[in-house]
Amino acid sequence: MTLQNQIYIRKSCRNYLEDEIDMDLIHEFMKNVKPLNPNISYRYEILNPGEVNVRTPWSAPYYLALYSEKKDNYLENIGFVFQQLSLHLQSLGIGNCWVGMASPKKKDGEFVIMISFGKSDKMTRDKDSFKRKQLSKISDVEDERLIPARLAPSAMNTQPWYFKHTDEGFDVYQVRQNILKRQILKKWNPIDMGIALAHLYVSNTESFEFNKKSDYNELKGYTYTGSIKI
Ligand SMILES: Cc1cc2nc3c(=O)[nH]c(=O)nc-3n(C[C@H](O)[C@H](O)[C@H](O)COP(=O)(O)O)c2cc1C
Repeated sequence: MTLQNQIYIRKSCRNYLEDEIDMDLIHEFMKNVKPLNPNISYRYEILNPGEVNVRTPWSAPYYLALYSEKKDNYLENIGFVFQQLSLHLQSLGIGNCWVGMASPKKKDGEFVIMISFGKSDKMTRDKDSFKRKQLSKISDVEDERLIPARLAPSAMNTQPWYFKHTDEGFDVYQVRQNILKRQILKKWNPIDMGIALAHLYVSNTESFEFNKKSDYNELKGYTYTGSIKI
């Protein structure tokens, strides 16, 4: 199955089998992954649960710790790059979940977030059982081309994305959360934005383009992420 097909059946996996995984499946895929911003360097390491401070009620046989150089857009870039890997793992029967509530016991200042993973038989669902905002709530005009973004995973299922049509495609905005939620979500919501953009990219690999306009329109209650062609 293609990465694109995974969008419609995936779910965050919190229930794993202990089977061993060939890590070359990850290293090989990562050689050809597309970045959102090619000027930001990033890296990952694969850890066992004993090397991770896990603050979720469940755990996984393996964890990816994601690190990035801290430049403009680096959180969106991490979401964009590693959601491609997430869909790839899903296509191989390897369940996974973005985990904000975990961190490596040994980490440095470039640490961003973790993804848990492992073989699983509880990692799919039907298209009708996604709990998501309606298309009309995430865009100025309902547009079926946005369905892959609508189905993207996000921290606490906040779905912070909003798409405004332009002549070329869409201007993309992130919801400005209230002060309380912002404390928790300030690092995660930009990652969510990158994840949603990754779903649009894998659905439009030939035509997808991302750029940041300097003359974008402000939108009350939102911050500007960038503009896309799909
Ligand atoms: C940036 C990010 C951080 C997340 N952190 C956690 C977490 O700490 N614990 C957890 O159980 N799920 C976590 N999730 C998974 C979300 O809860 C999940 O994506 C969302 O509820 C939608 O469900 P779905 O992924 O099954 O479609 C995280 C997701 C994202 C994108």
